[in-house]
Amino acid sequence: MDQAQKLRDIIGDQEVPERDVIDARIITISSGKGGVGKTNFTVNLGIALAKQGKSVTIIDADLGLANVDVLFGLVPKYNLSHVIKGEVPVQDIIVKGLYDINIISGGSGIMDLIDLDSEQLEKLIHTLTYFNAVSDYILIDTGAGLSKSVLSFIDAASDVIVVITPDPTSITDAYALVKNIVMDDQKKIKLIINRVESNEEGDEVFGKMHQAVSKFLNRELENLGYIFEDNNLKRAVRRQIPLLEAYPRAIASKGIENIAYNLDNNGKYNKNNNSFRSFLNKLINKI
Ligand SMILES: Nc1ncnc2c1ncn2[C@@H]1O[C@H](COP(=O)(O)OP(=O)(O)OP(=O)(O)O)[C@@H](O)[C@H]1O
Ligand SMILES: [Mg+2]
Repeated sequence: MDQAQKLRDIIGDQEVPERDVIDARIITISSGKGGVGKTNFTVNLGIALAKQGKSVTIIDADLGLANVDVLFGLVPKYNLSHVIKGEVPVQDIIVKGLYDINIISGGSGIMDLIDLDSEQLEKLIHTLTYFNAVSDYILIDTGAGLSKSVLSFIDAASDVIVVITPDPTSITDAYALVKNIVMDDQKKIKLIINRVESNEEGDEVFGKMHQAVSKFLNRELENLGYIFEDNNLKRAVRRQIPLLEAYPRAIASKGIENIAYNLDNNGKYNKNNNSFRSFLNKLINKI
C-alpha cells in the first residue's frame, strides 16, 4: 500500500465530531514579498472575526521574525512539530489569545511537510481535524514566497488571501505568486492592499494587478479591501498588543474590520460539509 493510500484510509476513518456548525473555512494568507504586513493582518483579521462571534484558530506557519505569538505577547512552549513527532498531545500546543483565539505555532512542522513520514503526517492530519472541529475559521499565516509547502497549503485551503502593498516590488512579486497559484487551482484569489495612503491609491493598485492577471492569466481577482498606512500599527507591534485591541478606532483597524466583514458576508462562499475532507485530500495528493 503506498503512503498516499494509507493516508486516504486514515481520512476515511476519521470521526467527524457532531456539531451544528459545519467545516471550518480554511484560509491561507500569503504574499510574494516578505514584510508586507501578513502576520499583522492575520492576527487582526482573527480578532475581527472573533469579535463577530466566530471561533478562530490561527496557525503560524511563518518562520519569519514577527511571529503571531509575539504580536499577541505570548510565549508558546510547544509547537506543531512537537505534536507531529509525538512528544506532546495536541492540547499542549494550544495557546489561547484574546477572544479565545487558538494560536498554534507551526515550528518547522508545517514547512517540512514533504519530509514527514506517514506516521507524522497522520498526526498532522489528526491535529488539523481537531482544529476543524472546534473552529469556524482556520487562518494560516504561510510566510512569503513560493516554497512547495506554502503552495500546497494555498492549493488545499478553501480560500487564499494575497497581501500586497503599493510598493512596485511587492506588486511584481505578488504577480509571480498569483501566476503559480493559478497554474493548478481554480479558486478565486482574494487580494488585500496594505499600507495605502488613500482609497484612490488602493483602487489604482488593485486595478493594475487585476488588469495584468485578467490579461495574461485570464483570471479574476477579488478585491477584499484596503488597509491604510497607520503609525498605530507600529505602536501596537511595539506594545505586543494586536492593533484591533490596542487601537480599535484607528483607521487601519477599520480597514481590517471591513475586510473581515467582506470575507464573512460576501455571500459568494458556499459552505459545505466536504470542504475539510477535500482540504486533506488535496494536501496529501500534493505531498
Ligand atoms: N498598515 C500599516 N501601517 C504601518 N506600518 C505597517 C502596516 N502594515 C505593516 N506595517 C509595518 O510592517 C512591519 C511588518 O509587518 P508584518 O510582520 O505583519 O509583515 P509580514 O508580511 O508578516 O512579514 P514577514 O514576511 O517577515 O513574515 C510591521 O511591524 C509594521 O512596522
Ligand atoms: Mg510574518
